[in-house]
Amino acid sequence: MTIRISGTGSALPDRILTNRELEERVDTSDEWIRERTGIVTRHIADKETVASLAAEACRRALADAGKKAEEVELILLASCSSEMMLPCGACRVQAEIAAQNAAAFDINAACSGFVFALQTANAYIASGMYKNALVVGAEVLSGIVDPSDRNTCILFGDGAGAVFCEMSTGEGEGMIAALQGSMGDRGGVLCCRAGHRRDADYAEYPKKDAFVHMDGAEVYSFAVRTVPACIEKLLDMAGMGAEEIDLFLLHQANIRIINSVAKRLKIPADRFPSDLERVGNTSSAAIPLLLDELNKCGKIVRGCKLVLAAFGAGLTYGACVLQW
Ligand code: UT7
Repeated sequence: MTIRISGTGSALPDRILTNRELEERVDTSDEWIRERTGIVTRHIADKETVASLAAEACRRALADAGKKAEEVELILLASCSSEMMLPCGACRVQAEIAAQNAAAFDINAACSGFVFALQTANAYIASGMYKNALVVGAEVLSGIVDPSDRNTCILFGDGAGAVFCEMSTGEGEGMIAALQGSMGDRGGVLCCRAGHRRDADYAEYPKKDAFVHMDGAEVYSFAVRTVPACIEKLLDMAGMGAEEIDLFLLHQANIRIINSVAKRLKIPADRFPSDLERVGNTSSAAIPLLLDELNKCGKIVRGCKLVLAAFGAGLTYGACVLQW
């Protein structure tokens, strides 16, 4: 027993922040950002919140699946930038979309969050505990990124992507294989202290107020080594060759990381779609945002085989093979 995704949705804040605007704020250039990351614009929340973006993406995923909110049994929100500690963002989403029959909770695995949450939904549904789930990745990273830190402020954007999934009925469709991992001893390379009260005494995590601290080069080298190895192991588990996969949807962090993974796997880069140029790195929202775009423009059709692969703070990584 496994899940099928029967609807997708997404939401982006109205405000667009360009590289040109960033040039005025920090010591950077449009050219540097394009060449080193592939990013040109990103959306930044003004009035939107993690929960409001997530709720909008969920409404659209439900509409796409032809389902009503009261039919939803489980809501999983992957996020690392919720404005509220309590209640969790998933409960706020439940209230906003009036999914009164759902259980709701958050998952924080940073940029791997959506893939981890989808695998969690799969486990719940496969166990028979729930028949369906809304899985949403949503971030307002602009709330935890230092606007004067050129290492991070040029990369991140805000947004949300959601899927409605339910028990699969057809042969071969669904989640064929999944894998996930964590390297907690490397947490200090990408971290953010909570913006409140007592300072936990973790010497290895740099003190930097409540802003994201990132050692970009360390994360880069982790990604270009771990992601290809993870995909190779995943395909092995699935008993599939890379040539059988139609599209590889990677975490959208840097176009050079995506191209490097494609090269290491010896797979043509055109099978690695990207929306990085327009939306930047939206952490847990990145993969479901891209999934929604490809679904809505007809690039993902029934029978398509997809690999979703993510990596991020933790450090964490995860991947799965889906047949649409
Ligand atoms: O979601 C998961 C989390 N994040 C990631 O996956 C990020 C992974 N890392 C990266 O994408 C890249 O490491 C970055 C985009 C963050 C940085 O790119 P890089 O090619 O690794 O640059 P670098 O840090 O090696 O810096 C090269 C130069 C340095 O100058 P010098 O020492 O060569 O004179 C930096 O000071 O570029 C400079 N630099 C910048 N210049 C203009 C660093 N950031 C900027 C900037 N604008 N924003």
